[in-house]
Amino acid sequence: MLIRDIAQFDGKQITLAGWVYNKRSSGKIRFVIVRDGTGLTQCVFSQKDLSPEVFELADKITQESSLYVTGMVRKDDRAPGGYELIATDLKLIQMADNYPISPKEHGTDFLMTNRHLWLRSRRQHAIITIRSHLIKAMRDFFDNQGFILVDTPILTPAAVEGTTTLFEVEYFGEKTYLTQSGQLYNEPDAAAFNKVYCFGPTFRAEKSKTRRHLTEFWMIEPEVAFADLNDIITLAEDFISYIVERVLTKCPEQFKVLERDISKLEKITKPFPRITYTEAIEKLNANSKPVKWGDDFGGDEETVLSNLNDKPLVITHYPAQCKAFYMKRDSNDDKLALGADILAPEGYGEIVGGGQREDDLATLEKRIAEYKLPKQAFEWYLDVRRYGTFPHSGFGLGVERTLAWICALPHVRETIPYPRMLEKVYP
Ligand code: 4AD
Ligand code: MG
Repeated sequence: MLIRDIAQFDGKQITLAGWVYNKRSSGKIRFVIVRDGTGLTQCVFSQKDLSPEVFELADKITQESSLYVTGMVRKDDRAPGGYELIATDLKLIQMADNYPISPKEHGTDFLMTNRHLWLRSRRQHAIITIRSHLIKAMRDFFDNQGFILVDTPILTPAAVEGTTTLFEVEYFGEKTYLTQSGQLYNEPDAAAFNKVYCFGPTFRAEKSKTRRHLTEFWMIEPEVAFADLNDIITLAEDFISYIVERVLTKCPEQFKVLERDISKLEKITKPFPRITYTEAIEKLNANSKPVKWGDDFGGDEETVLSNLNDKPLVITHYPAQCKAFYMKRDSNDDKLALGADILAPEGYGEIVGGGQREDDLATLEKRIAEYKLPKQAFEWYLDVRRYGTFPHSGFGLGVERTLAWICALPHVRETIPYPRMLEKVYP
């Protein structure tokens, strides 16, 4: 019997297994809120109806003690979850010792150090539950559209997203890196399966402490054969509106716990506004955040741009110098990359990066040299251009940044069960 199914047991006797979430007293009654990981139920212990031993136990029991409670389920609209349990028996499994996270306020450092326990609290429970539904929605979207999941390796010889954020791993005397993105493998996979996606943890040795950066984060990355920049932006719009709608349908209770204004999420319907990098610069100048043409946007610029609309904002045609070696250039202007970033609204910044890939062998060889990348590590990748090259495009969406926006959280650290950040690898 799980608390989330309690409505089916109205008027019946049940036994709950769980932990003490909270407790209060009123005269000869003890109210013990029990959680079992699926919900909370108030258990009512009345001295007049119970043996002295059971009542004393209910009186003494501490926060997070594990127990079995037997009683009668009764509908009560005032109780959390709409039902309460009129207890007839209580069996203690373990009396918990001074649980460190009390109902009072705690600092973030303390909570992060106790992350393994913090996950038991209502807000954290709500966020991680939404995460689970979000990931299912992401996978369903691609599975339903005939994409094949092709897993990409975590240990790799080649850098995808620049050489400054690589975690190096010694591999039997050879140098490898933790993957920054599955993209380079997605591209040959698209030649083998047409429409593919990968989903897994990715790593960046980010040396900056910001509300948007983790060193280990999860990314879902589709790659589509014969798709151009426009096709892949349309796919991203469909994808983002689908996943937002799904979590709104699946997680109303969790959004209530988070006090999320869901009317903001209900506006996330396609199409999304699209502007070029050059137009974005004009908007930044107009909002007194001047940027020189050619410079990449930092967190502050993203926040400004991301506050301009109710919907995600698509920004295309960045200066090629801001982007990775693999981006195809605009045939009308070689200084521009056929890439697109998508910025979440409400100041959340970039959640998607992607675009069209360079598909000409000689051009790509030239870029690898320009970016000072070791060519031999990319020979297999160049094969995609040697044997039946084809136009193709893809993108990557970061789960944690997307979830931070969906849940309106101040920092990505609460969006992953065990965050990894600069100077943070415990627990
Ligand atoms: O823009 P990025 O670097 O793009 C790529 O990795 C491409 N190879 C993807 C592709 O085309 N297949 O990263 C994509 C997304 C970002 O928009 C962001 O959501 C997330 O990954 N991301 C991070 N999330 C948390 N912490 C970090 N340090 C992140 N770096 C990127
Ligand atoms: Mg990016």
